[in-house]
Amino acid sequence: MGASNKMAVDVLLGLQWGDEGKGKIVDVLAPKYQVVARFQGGPNAGHTLEFDGFKHVLHQIPSGIFRSEVQNIIGNGVVLDPIIFKKEIDGLAKYNLNILENLEISKKASIILPTHRLLDAAYEKAKGDAKIGSTLKGIGPTYTDKISRQGLRVGDMISPNFKAKYDKLVNTHKGILDVYKFEYDLAAAEAEFFEAVEFMKKFNLVDSEYVVNQALTDNKTILAEGAQGSLLDVDFGSYPFVTSSNTVTAGACTGLGVAPKNIGEVYGIFKAYATRVGSGPFPTELMDEVGERMRQEGREFGSTTGRPRRCGWIDLPALKYAMMINGVTQLVMMKADVLNIFEEIHVCTAYQLPDGTISEQLPYDMTDTIVTPVYETLKGWHCSLEGLRKFEELPTELSAYIAFLEEKLELPINFISTGPDRDECVLRGKLA
Ligand code: GDP
Ligand code: IMO
Ligand code: MG
Repeated sequence: MGASNKMAVDVLLGLQWGDEGKGKIVDVLAPKYQVVARFQGGPNAGHTLEFDGFKHVLHQIPSGIFRSEVQNIIGNGVVLDPIIFKKEIDGLAKYNLNILENLEISKKASIILPTHRLLDAAYEKAKGDAKIGSTLKGIGPTYTDKISRQGLRVGDMISPNFKAKYDKLVNTHKGILDVYKFEYDLAAAEAEFFEAVEFMKKFNLVDSEYVVNQALTDNKTILAEGAQGSLLDVDFGSYPFVTSSNTVTAGACTGLGVAPKNIGEVYGIFKAYATRVGSGPFPTELMDEVGERMRQEGREFGSTTGRPRRCGWIDLPALKYAMMINGVTQLVMMKADVLNIFEEIHVCTAYQLPDGTISEQLPYDMTDTIVTPVYETLKGWHCSLEGLRKFEELPTELSAYIAFLEEKLELPINFISTGPDRDECVLRGKLA
């Protein structure tokens, strides 16, 4: 598997609740691509890459950045925090990358202001027990301002009226914060913000829709990198416990300016089990010692917030739903090695609804409609996967697990990840 035919943008995205391992796979696939572009989300994302003994977490910068020949683009669908951007660039200094050359930022990307972060915190606090469990990076309030047509965009930074536009929006925000009786001190963050804005002006601020479409015309290979996961999508996720963007394939069209006919392969990334961070329904969640073992073995603590991730068995109705919405053409299964420790592996194949009926569909609202997972049990492989690189070398029970999933999902799983490092991949066939 590798870059699809010419004149197409391939899309790589998460099929669960985020943190599937997207960053690793973008990094692994990046040498096959000339362009890697983020299309939505912002610093709520934490994409981990491990190679040569380094571990690095990216938040807003595309995961192709460590491949010097790749052109990286932050698309118009992204919400960008200049302060975090500056910190990320500073954090990359030790790798000697040519980021000023290799990174382009859409002028139409939205800017996260310090007051967006305050609003995020104010809204969450007001929700009390019903809080979303937001990463508090200001994502929701920034997308809200974009949709209500009052947000600031990267292109505004170079306008002589930037400060006036900023002040106008911040005054609106201050009014809301007062209503919420939210106390804050903005001075330090504001100074840092304007310093970061100056810093950002050194970068290539572009009309990225032209850049991407020109790359298509030039027959360049392009990979669109998703953030979050399909079950956090604002339309199709477990609303209201979602993020504020379209995380699904369609989001790559609007978040980069790519016509639907130009979408090529869609890589659906999923863990061999399931995790979720933040609030919201999670039918297969394990609140017991098994869940705790999964969390420890999988190092399931948030890449952005450090919060413990909730863990559970794989959920096929949810996975099939995500595949349907995204039009997945390639499946990539991550973290198979985390299940090494279990004697038995459980797979949720359907839900039992409150009235007793069995269904393979997701109900309208999983918060109100409590479903009970129906499980099938498979034997665990109970051995290390270290050093394995070929499908034929996999333990029999893992091959059986894969075959079981492939039959239920009706698509082959040609790529299995068996550890965090760039090299820890098992491929069926070749990556070409
Ligand atoms: P992303 O947000 O989808 O990019 O995923 P994150 O980086 O938030 O979380 C994935 C975590 O799992 C990171 O710590 C990765 O280093 C790690 N990881 C990725 N693939 C594997 C794998 O196959 N096995 C194990 N054990 N860890 C993995
Ligand atoms: P990556 O790209 C996992 C979750 C938050 C919260 C909800 C809304 O690393 O997979 P937000 O800050 O977006 O308003 O939070 O979405 N969330 C993620 N969970 N991985 C992510 O990104 C996430 N980004 C947001 O925990 O429940
Ligand atoms: Mg993550």
